[in-house]
Amino acid sequence: MKPRTSNEIRQAFLEFFNELNHEIVPSAPLPQHDNPTLLFTNAGMNQFVDVFLGKEKRPYSRATSSQKCMRVQGKHNDLENVGPSPRHHTFFEMLGNFSFGDYFKEGAIRFAYDFMTKVCQIPADKLYFTVHTSDDEAYDIWANKVGVPPSHILRMGDKTNFWMMGDVGPCGPTSEIHYDWGPEACTCGRPDCSVLLDNDCDRWLEVWNLVFMQYDQAEDGTRTLLPKPGVDTGMGLERITSVVQGTPVNYNNDLFAPAMDRVQAMLGDTAEERQEKYVGYRVIADHGRAATFLIADGVRPGAAGAGYVLRMIIRRAARFGRQIGFQQPFLADVAQVYIDQMGEAYPELRQRAEHIRHTLTQEERRFARTLDAALSQLITILEEMDEKGEKEIDGQTAFNLYATY
Ligand code: SER
Repeated sequence: MKPRTSNEIRQAFLEFFNELNHEIVPSAPLPQHDNPTLLFTNAGMNQFVDVFLGKEKRPYSRATSSQKCMRVQGKHNDLENVGPSPRHHTFFEMLGNFSFGDYFKEGAIRFAYDFMTKVCQIPADKLYFTVHTSDDEAYDIWANKVGVPPSHILRMGDKTNFWMMGDVGPCGPTSEIHYDWGPEACTCGRPDCSVLLDNDCDRWLEVWNLVFMQYDQAEDGTRTLLPKPGVDTGMGLERITSVVQGTPVNYNNDLFAPAMDRVQAMLGDTAEERQEKYVGYRVIADHGRAATFLIADGVRPGAAGAGYVLRMIIRRAARFGRQIGFQQPFLADVAQVYIDQMGEAYPELRQRAEHIRHTLTQEERRFARTLDAALSQLITILEEMDEKGEKEIDGQTAFNLYATY
């Protein structure tokens, strides 16, 4: 049966690959404790880096997972897009299948195509496939083995079709699967609107990235071949859910809508008011979810590292919350929606529910006190400027207000 809900899609994905002899591996925690270049897990492949490099052996050569990811720092950072963008998130779930020296390009491509068209029953003519300009082999598989018409296979360069986790480590050319929302969804207005333009047009949604792991990149940029080539794929659950549920804006699918509804109920907003305040709603739904998962994984708000990021997203959500009408802490209620909805797939949410709610409320209270103190400082600064006839706050003062408060 075709999966409909996000919980069903996650389950269907893991079962599909399990039936193809992939070991279901649990998500690694979000914080990356021993990694100097990465604060948080940012891709499904992170926990398999040494397996790709041939330094670690596992009892399986095929794996699948639904990995908790955060993209808020380093090479992959989506923070500033959250809110205005219909499809970017700080926290997201990455569905992935992996081959460690087992199948390569043909297996990855066939499995992905079958999952999209047979399990999710997405019409093939809504899908476009990109390959690296140099990758004739992947082109040939899409065109001649799968039978995709050439107009739906696009060759693109390193920017979109070469993937690396960071500046060093396993990497390789990619093939991406894009969904077409149709000409009416075009926001770029170009007559030649296409995935090829790579211009963030809302018509095209990159759903799945198939990485053909071939190289190990050293710090000086040189690449050596991996002992055995492998496959690392990543599909955002938020995006495939939107495609299956027909919601071009991720916040309207069943991963976010319940939290957005809860915010609306708490504020007593009408549908029009909710629409007017959509950026604030989205930031709260996104950041509230990210904070919930971070706290469940043992992160505490703090002044440095992972704790700093957690504090920043809680405060960012609280600041947007104030703007759209909250006068009291509200994030614990948002967290509860996610705990109820995702607690079966991620039992740590249920186990630490009380601690999650308490940590959020405490941090919101601390921030409210800080903001009040900062506002009274700001008023004093503005009064002094008025007396001197000044019109612009100097950089040092502005920086102090921003950095400290
Ligand atoms: N590692 C690739 C990505 O994050 C595919 O999983 O896009």
